[in-house]
Amino acid sequence: MDTNVQKRRENKKSLRVKVISLGNAEVGKSCIIKRYCEKRFVPKYLATIGIDYGVTKVQVRDREIKVNIFDMAGHPFFYEVRNEFYKDSQGVILVYDVGLRESFDALDSWLTEMKQEMGSQANMENIIFIVCANKVDLTKRRVVDESEGRLWAESRGFHYFETSAQSGEGINEMFQSFFSSITDMCENGGKRPTPEVSVGFTKEQADTIRRIRNSKDSWDMLGVKPGATREEVNKAYRKLAVLLHPDKCVAPGSEDAFKAVVNARTSLLKNIK
Ligand code: GTP
Ligand code: MG
Repeated sequence: MDTNVQKRRENKKSLRVKVISLGNAEVGKSCIIKRYCEKRFVPKYLATIGIDYGVTKVQVRDREIKVNIFDMAGHPFFYEVRNEFYKDSQGVILVYDVGLRESFDALDSWLTEMKQEMGSQANMENIIFIVCANKVDLTKRRVVDESEGRLWAESRGFHYFETSAQSGEGINEMFQSFFSSITDMCENGGKRPTPEVSVGFTKEQADTIRRIRNSKDSWDMLGVKPGATREEVNKAYRKLAVLLHPDKCVAPGSEDAFKAVVNARTSLLKNIK
């Protein structure tokens, strides 16, 4: 074959992408990348200073993908350095430590920082986000369970993986899915393809489950004022029961939320004459 034609074909099949890692300091961003690229784990904490940059090549179907990885420092001190690097990313690895609730709660502020730095023309829709619930090997100290993490991720259209940079669990699967989704997006003209299978639950269901988990007491859980009447409690209960009934709702955590609502109603009705 003519070498020029061959070269052109090869170029068509190769892709260059930029991905970044985000999340609080010490959640394991650098270790996840190291585990994938170098197949090893370093137990000693070496904080990333500003940004670490690396390149790796991966094969997705018939394409060779050159991946530029920008591993961000999570410490607030490095904000001025990392804010330059948000633009033009095709993929984002969002990491939290399952043993540190504040690192999970911080995911929203990482998205906010990213949006802010990307400016007004930012289109977060056309970026692949993958959420890593990391350090799952440390089972005894786990405080954020799978359903909570999955709900946060999937209700935003993000992928969710349980990972351990220490044992390697979930790391290859996560990166394979990440790169394959990025390739699909590039082949779709840079637009995130509409998923073939919808997540199967609504944003209202996801938001309600989150609200129930974070409610401070039974009144709050049912969304009624303290001192509400039996009728008000029952009305609120029926609405939630329809929304969250396990036969109708497949959102992660819906079963526990449904049980919590049943218990809240029972305990409130006991005390209302
Ligand atoms: P910054 O660069 O400061 O933002 O931190 P980082 O998110 O890159 O964290 P790093 O990868 O440096 O890991 C922080 C600490 O957590 C290190 O001591 C790692 O050895 C440890 N660590 C990372 N991943 C895991 C894991 O899956 N399991 C366990 N047990 N420890 C982990
Ligand atoms: Mg790091």
